[in-house]
Amino acid sequence: MAFATRQFVRAASSSAATAAAKKLIVKHVTVIGGGLMGAGIAQVAAASGHTVVLVDQSDEILKKSAKGIEESLKRVTKKKFADKPEAGAEFMEKTLNNLTTSTDAVAVVHSTDLVIEAIVENQELKNELFKRLDKFAPEHTIFASNTSSLQITQLANSTTRQDRFGGLHFFNPVPMMKLVEVIKTPMTSQKTFESLVDFSKALGKSPVSCKDTPGFIVNRLLVPYMMEAVRLFERGDASKEDIDVAMKLGAGYPMGPFELLDYVGLDTSKYIIDGWHSLEPNNPLFAPSPLLDKLVEEKKLGKKTGEGFYKYK
Ligand code: NAI
Repeated sequence: MAFATRQFVRAASSSAATAAAKKLIVKHVTVIGGGLMGAGIAQVAAASGHTVVLVDQSDEILKKSAKGIEESLKRVTKKKFADKPEAGAEFMEKTLNNLTTSTDAVAVVHSTDLVIEAIVENQELKNELFKRLDKFAPEHTIFASNTSSLQITQLANSTTRQDRFGGLHFFNPVPMMKLVEVIKTPMTSQKTFESLVDFSKALGKSPVSCKDTPGFIVNRLLVPYMMEAVRLFERGDASKEDIDVAMKLGAGYPMGPFELLDYVGLDTSKYIIDGWHSLEPNNPLFAPSPLLDKLVEEKKLGKKTGEGFYKYK
């Protein structure tokens, strides 16, 4: 009898260990923040068969997000189902049926497998949100942030689920850009990391992994490159037009650094570089630029305001 009990205990504990090691298959996703990134993430998640709730602060914002998603989805469908209009209509309908909206994050997280946060880039607001949701989300739920410049570890520390917390960094425009950077902090469990990698693949994306370091992979290389281009121009070594032509024709880049800065937004670029500069004040790659600061002060923020390094009016 004792032997049988021991055997049973051993079998039960080994099956519990297997279950614990099993990756989470994400079916239900809550995306918080229905702006540029959040709307795109919600769209691709719904299009790949996940049930998605998109959360923002007001119905008005959510209406705008839903309209943007529908328009983007129409473009994707037209391209994907060019000679199969019926299959296209079915894909549109299914995707939109998978998507609902809400202004109450707490009320919707109780049944979610994965929370993806894509609200404004503000440490305090993000910490506050995660801390609140941590109390209401189920035990198994994974939390992920789409932050570009904040430390995932600091966000994870606002919760009690540091092992079920990681970064999922998407690129703009989300429906077009194939890459997702999956960020593993020293506390992220292997199971969480693998679940996030699998989820990214299920969206049709190509995940890459990176530790929780400033800028992860893409921005860590791209932002200092753009700042070096500004410094080259500031020193009067070359014109911005020639630098752009040089990098397009000489390096094969689709956009020159000044075109890219205007597209990203000069305020966003300044915010990122200032943050890194405060973390590593002696790193010359992270040094602020007087010219960039001046343009931001003059509200010349790039394409979105009609003028940055170039004029768009
Ligand atoms: P956005 O300004 O377009 O959208 C942010 C949305 O969050 C707004 O609709 C706002 O109403 C909502 N929001 C703010 N506080 C909220 C709260 N407490 N609860 C619910 N909703 C709230 O910003 P965007 O560009 O979509 O960026 C979002 C995040 O994605 C940021 O962390 C940013 O660093 C990151 N990111 C941005 C990229 C870009 O190219 N714009 C690329 C990759 C990441």
